[in-house]
Amino acid sequence: MQIKQPLFFDTYKENKDADIQALIEGLLCPQATLSPKYFYDEMGSVLFDAITLLPEYYPTRTELEIFTQQASEIHAHFPKQATWVELGAGSCQKAAQLFTHSKPSTYVAVDISVDYLSQHLKDLQAKNSDVNVVGVGMDFSHSLTFPEKLQQQLTAEPLLALYLGSSLGNFNPVEALYFLQRVANLCKMGQPGSGLIIGIDLVKDSSTLERAYADDLGVTAAFNLNVLRRVNSLLGSDFDVRDWQHSARFNVQESRIEMHLQAKKNLTVQWQGQQRHFKQDETIHTENSYKWSIQKFTTLLIQSGFTNTRHWTDQKSHYALFWAS
Ligand code: AVI
Repeated sequence: MQIKQPLFFDTYKENKDADIQALIEGLLCPQATLSPKYFYDEMGSVLFDAITLLPEYYPTRTELEIFTQQASEIHAHFPKQATWVELGAGSCQKAAQLFTHSKPSTYVAVDISVDYLSQHLKDLQAKNSDVNVVGVGMDFSHSLTFPEKLQQQLTAEPLLALYLGSSLGNFNPVEALYFLQRVANLCKMGQPGSGLIIGIDLVKDSSTLERAYADDLGVTAAFNLNVLRRVNSLLGSDFDVRDWQHSARFNVQESRIEMHLQAKKNLTVQWQGQQRHFKQDETIHTENSYKWSIQKFTTLLIQSGFTNTRHWTDQKSHYALFWAS
C-alpha cells in the first residue's frame, strides 16, 4: 500500500539585502527597534515553545481550554466537508488537537518556512490518511495569494480559516485591519458556510499581563535576549547579551505589552563599519503584543468585511475565540 504524502508549495521569497537594510534602519532609529520576526531562529523557536508551557503564560493553555470545554458549540460552526487553511500553522499541533473533534477534507498549513512545516505535516498526514494535507510557505503578513494550483481547492468547498495562538496581537491595529480584510476576502472565495476562527488575547489587569511576559524562570528574557545573537549572526555586530536586560511593560494607552531590551551601561555596538551608542537604560523595542476587548475586536471584524460574529471566553475572560463569517 502506498503511503499518502503531503503536497508542498513554496511562495516565500526572501530578500536578504532589503531585510538587512531594514534591520540597520531599525537599530539607528532614535528609539531603536528590531522586528519580532528575528526571534524565531532555531533557539528562539524552542524558547517560544517553552514559553507556551510556563504557568505565567496563560494564552496557549486558555485557548486550548476554551476549545476543549466548549467543543460541541464551537465545532458546530465548523463547516462540514471543508478545506481548512491554518495561517501560522507552525508545528500543526493545534490542528492535530482539533482533528479529534472534526476533520477537514483538506488541511492547508501556511507558514513562512516550508522546511519547518515539512516534518510536522508528514507526521500529521501519516496519522490522518483521510485528510489531504498541504503545506504552503508564504509571508502572509503582506499578502494572501495562494499558488494557482491551490485556487480550485479553495473555491470548491466551504473554507475555514484558522488563526490561533493570539498571533494577531503582534500586528498593530491598522495592520490587523488589513490582514483581516485579506482573510475576509479569502473566506468569500469558499462555498457557503465559510468563516474564520481566531484566538484573541483580551485586555486585563497589568500585573497578569506583565507576568505573562516576564516569567520567574527567565524564559521570556532568554527569548528576548536571543534576538541579539541572531542580529550578530546576520549583521556581524558585536552585541554582548550580558550588557542587556529584558523588560516587559503594559502600555495601557496603546493597549499593548511592549518588550524591550535595556542597556545595563553606556555602550557602543558596531557592525560593518557602522555603530550605535546606547546610554545606560536606553532600550531597543523588540515586540508589541496588542490586547483587545471583546467589543473592539468585534468592531474590527465587522470593519474588515465579516458580517456575523460569535465568541467564547474562559471563566476569567482572559482570552477569547471568535467565529466570523
Ligand atoms: C507569538 N505571539 C502571539 C506571542 C505573544 O504573546 O505576543 C509572542 C511572545 N512574546 C513573548 N512571549 C510570547
